[in-house]
Amino acid sequence: MDLMLKKRKILVTGGSKGIGLACAQVLASEGADLIISSRSEENLATAKEIIGEHKGELLTFAADISRKDDIDALGEYLVTKFGYADGIVINAGGPPMGPVLGHSDEIWTHAVNSLLMSVVRLTRIFVPLMKERKFGRIINISSTGVKQPIQGLVLSNSVRQAAGTYLKTLSADVAGDNIFINTLLPGATDTDRLASLHRTIAERTGKNLDEVIAARKSSIPAGRFGDPVNLASLAAFLLSERNGYITGQSIAVDGGQVSFPL
Ligand SMILES: NC(=O)c1ccc[n+]([C@@H]2O[C@H](COP(=O)([O-])OP(=O)(O)OC[C@H]3O[C@@H](n4cnc5c(N)ncnc54)[C@H](OP(=O)(O)O)[C@@H]3O)[C@@H](O)[C@H]2O)c1
Repeated sequence: MDLMLKKRKILVTGGSKGIGLACAQVLASEGADLIISSRSEENLATAKEIIGEHKGELLTFAADISRKDDIDALGEYLVTKFGYADGIVINAGGPPMGPVLGHSDEIWTHAVNSLLMSVVRLTRIFVPLMKERKFGRIINISSTGVKQPIQGLVLSNSVRQAAGTYLKTLSADVAGDNIFINTLLPGATDTDRLASLHRTIAERTGKNLDEVIAARKSSIPAGRFGDPVNLASLAAFLLSERNGYITGQSIAVDGGQVSFPL
């Protein structure tokens, strides 16, 4: 199926590694014009090499989406280069693990800025532009922790819940303008972030790293970690005009791990 993404203008934040990079790779292979963004110029240069030659444009812009000034600069860059955005993938690094009562106000504030205010600020810039063109597709990369809280990840479980509720509220406001907004909930997906979480768990529990990984895999009905491309393929469909009627949803891509009621 042709996703009709050729020449569509799409921004991917947190796009230099892992799930964000996989989204950029799939979108590039579909011929979209892309701006990929993350904090590090160096990571962006590497990502550009990994994506390689493709039919569309591929621009990069360094921005930390926990910071309002960086988001404003990213918005200005996109408008200068493309004039508008057909789609955005909102993605950033996950917050640290830690005991529920153990995070300082500074750490909570950073998590709120990275995972909630980034979503508010990016949509405040791009949704009005999408309204003018009567087309827009937005994806937020969240976590299954919003459906079934993950022990040790209270910052992620809590703050992402607020971002999801914000987007659900916004999606109803703008669906009539052909702007569709969905949240994707990765389960254990094979990236640097997952490897680092497993190392932290092994250090904190004194368990062998291989044991930690084997226990995690055995808790997943599919029996393995997800490939970032699994999630990116769904993101590409939801970002395309082939997605003509799905909005306001939170969709787990988790090999069946979350066991919330149907
Ligand atoms: N992998 C999993 O199993 C899993 C499961 C559930 C949820 N998630 C969530 O899904 C998201 C992506 O996960 P991942 O595994 O792909 O993570 P990852 O491998 O750590 O990659 C994160 C990406 O985001 C960029 N980034 C980090 N902080 C940023 C910021 N403040 N502003 C802009 N870019 C930022 C990083 O590049 P720079 O360092 O260059 O900024 C990198 O490109 C995370 O929020 C993660 O918590 C992942």
